[in-house]
Amino acid sequence: MAKNESYYSGEKYNSLAKKHGYRSRAAFKLIQIDKEENILKKNLNIIDLGCAPGGWSQVVSEKLKGTGSIVGIDILKMPKLKDVEYIQCDLKNFDVNKLKTRIDVVLSDIAPNISGITIVDDRNMIDLLEIELSIVDKTLVNGGDYLAKCFQGDSLEHLVLNLKERFKSIKRIKPLASRSISKEIYVLGLNKI
Ligand SMILES: C[S@@+](CC[C@H](N)C(=O)[O-])C[C@H]1O[C@@H](n2cnc3c(N)ncnc32)[C@H](O)[C@@H]1O
Repeated sequence: MAKNESYYSGEKYNSLAKKHGYRSRAAFKLIQIDKEENILKKNLNIIDLGCAPGGWSQVVSEKLKGTGSIVGIDILKMPKLKDVEYIQCDLKNFDVNKLKTRIDVVLSDIAPNISGITIVDDRNMIDLLEIELSIVDKTLVNGGDYLAKCFQGDSLEHLVLNLKERFKSIKRIKPLASRSISKEIYVLGLNKI
C-alpha cells in the first residue's frame, strides 16, 4: 500500500510520543490545542473523559504540576498515572456524585467504535455527546471550559448548537496532530454561562 502524507504524519507523532514518554500520540492534539487556547492552568480541577491510555492526562498533569486535580474516566483498564484519580466505567454509568469537587475544565477525547456507516457513527457520537453534555451541566463551574471530540457532519452541528446555549464562545479546532483524512474535529466551549 502506498504511504501517503497522513501515514507519515501519524508516524511522526507516534515517534514523538515515544520520545517524550507520552502514552499516546493523541497527547500532541491536546498540546497543540492548549498552546493556542491556554485552557490548562495550575490549580484547576479537570476531568478527562475517555482518558486511556493516558496521553491527555499526562499533558494535564504536566500543566497542573501537582496542583488542582485530575479525574480520568475510561471503559478500559488504564495503568496508574501520577496525580490522576482513575475511574474505570462506561460513561453511561458514570455517577457525577463520585466527584469530590466541581470541575473547571471538562475534556473529552471519546468517540464510538467506527462502523463506517455515517448515519450509525453520527448517531452513536451524538449519544455520547448527550451524556457528556449532561456531565457538563451537572459538574462544570460557571466560567469553565469544555473540549470535546466529534465528527464533521451531524454530530458537529449537534454539538455546536448545544454549546451555543451554554458557552460565551465556541471554536472548532482541527489540530495538526489529527490526521487530515480523519473526520474527527474538536470543539471548544469557552466560559460556561
Ligand atoms: C482516542 S481514545 C483516548 C485517548 C486519550 N485521550 C489519550 O491521549 O491517551 C478514546 C477512549 O475513549 C474510550 N471510550 C469510548 N467509549 C467509552 C464509553 N462509553 N465510556 C468510557 N470510555 C469510552 C475508549 O475506551 C478509548 O480509550
